[in-house]
Amino acid sequence: MTVALAPGVYWVGVVDWNIRDFHGYLTEDGSTYNAYLLIDDKITLIDTVKKEFLPEMLARVAEIVPLEKISYIVSNHVEMDHSGGLPEAVERIKPEKIFSSPQGKAGLSRHYKQDWPFVEVRTGDQVSLGRRTLSFLETPMLHWPDSMMTYLKEEELLFSSDAFGAHLASSERFDDQLPDHPEDYAHQLKKYYANILMPFGTLVTQLLDKIAKMGLTFKTIAPDHGLIYRRNIDWVLSLYQKWAAGVPEPKALVIYDTMWHSTEMLAQAFIQGLTDAGVEAQLHHLRSTHSSDIVTEVLDAGLLLVGSPTLNNNLFPTVSQFLTYLKGLRPKNKAAAAFGSFGWSGEAVKLINQELEAMKLKLVHEGFKVKYIPDPAELAAARKLGEQLARENLES
Ligand code: FEO
Repeated sequence: MTVALAPGVYWVGVVDWNIRDFHGYLTEDGSTYNAYLLIDDKITLIDTVKKEFLPEMLARVAEIVPLEKISYIVSNHVEMDHSGGLPEAVERIKPEKIFSSPQGKAGLSRHYKQDWPFVEVRTGDQVSLGRRTLSFLETPMLHWPDSMMTYLKEEELLFSSDAFGAHLASSERFDDQLPDHPEDYAHQLKKYYANILMPFGTLVTQLLDKIAKMGLTFKTIAPDHGLIYRRNIDWVLSLYQKWAAGVPEPKALVIYDTMWHSTEMLAQAFIQGLTDAGVEAQLHHLRSTHSSDIVTEVLDAGLLLVGSPTLNNNLFPTVSQFLTYLKGLRPKNKAAAAFGSFGWSGEAVKLINQELEAMKLKLVHEGFKVKYIPDPAELAAARKLGEQLARENLES
């Protein structure tokens, strides 16, 4: 059965039910790689899928039109979950033209080293397909330099590439088909934003402003992952606006690892203190909660307490790994502090502080350190500090 978004506009992507690790991001609900086919005088394919799924995508296309009838391919994004199938697709389709941004052409040329019939397009460029028109919107660093979106004017349909996407495998293709939407979908949408787009909040805000200034209106937003929006468009745009602004909630996270439970005892005491302050508090043990799930919660948290034991004069490896990942995501508008236990040297707190400062987070305490096992007085002090930091740094 074919899936139509509008007359002559079809979803021809694939559902990846089994993926659980998307370059390190935990995709517990699988994903989709969405590609689209436009039937017009110039039949056009928008994006492809991961290389190993290309036969399935081509079979879906062939249910609608013979491959050789396709004239154009639009490549909105070089990343291989959307371009991996391009070499075989080009070989089979032999398109007249492949439209991409200038950076897209450079990236695809570098990836696939083929002499393809590229046509570079920039923001505002238009291509007539016959009865309908495509226009292009460059979105550099949302989230790669080459990224762009494609707008089908007559249908008010935006092919938004990775933006507004979510990793979710489902038999439904549209947001209004998912029961209890939008709440059920919101988590995967937020997780995607946090792990992919968090560093680029300022650019997201600029893009949303630009879309408003250009007067673009949408009946449908068709991202390259997850569901296609036709009911909750204002909802998804407003969530992006909120996340891009980075205004924190009265919410604190205690993120830690532990060797012999001393750092864990402190983490539990901090949680009690945060709870005493009446804010939302979450405890995340780094070997129990996946980093991609923790950063989903970091996105709108206002206070981060990060704990590590000192191991061989250093951070515990999971803490170091998490801080490296978090630093790349450039979190903003957050207060932060470090804690940890140690046996003899106790460098962990200092090392966490250095990482938090490198992220330009607001360091609100010099760090809470305990030698060996915390005693009741130290646990009480940690609890009191947790409450104090919440009251001083989170608006309830
Ligand atoms: Fe879904 Fe940036 O690739």
